[in-house]
Amino acid sequence: MAPARRVQIVPSLLSADLARLPEALKQVQSAGAAEVTVDVMDGHFVANLAFGPDFVRTVKRLAPDLRVDAHLMVTNPETTAPWFIEAGADSVTFHWEAASDARALARRLRARGVAVGVAIKPATAAEGLLPLLGEVDTALVMTVEPGFGGARFLEGMLPKIASLRRALDERGLACRLQVDGGVNGDTAALAASAGADSLVAGAGVFGKPDAAENIRVLLQIAQAAFDGRNKQEGTCL
Ligand code: DX5
Repeated sequence: MAPARRVQIVPSLLSADLARLPEALKQVQSAGAAEVTVDVMDGHFVANLAFGPDFVRTVKRLAPDLRVDAHLMVTNPETTAPWFIEAGADSVTFHWEAASDARALARRLRARGVAVGVAIKPATAAEGLLPLLGEVDTALVMTVEPGFGGARFLEGMLPKIASLRRALDERGLACRLQVDGGVNGDTAALAASAGADSLVAGAGVFGKPDAAENIRVLLQIAQAAFDGRNKQEGTCL
């Protein structure tokens, strides 16, 4: 029997106290998180501005063992993704809605030796990602309208998560199914039960004291929900 798939919590630094970034990263690592997300926003694709390549450089310098995913909420991922790769990002996640040829972009970025994710906004149907599932390392379903931390989880995204999980299982693909936005103790269980095995959390990790404990609690909830789903489905991911 294949080993059960491990769910992961990926803290988003958008909600971290940047005045105490070294401590925040130490807390993340002490909780066993292997990766953080840096939310890159250009003020066009989303109505906010956040983080550039130099911030990724700083995070990698402070915590070289932490993987950093640059989540590109930008209109021009073809142009900007290389900047974040050169800054040391271990993976880049671009938006399907912003890529002129998502498959070609994914291949080009993978050829540069980084992991690649493709994300869809709430209004974009799962069908947009289906042709790409074999070409990327992460399929990201936004569970909030992207642009800000602390928004409310959109439960209407659960069928989309479930349909992508079915597609990944049917094709036997190892691609992560990730959600981002509004993840807390309640919604982590919903998302993992629907089939998400990677959960990005900002406010749910940094929005209340003890980020390390918050990560541990979210992970326990999500892993139990994910395993429970598999028992129901008779699968072992
Ligand atoms: C932009 C960002 C946020 C962030 C997580 O929307 O992608 O989703 O990472 O935000 P929380 O977990 O605070 O909703």
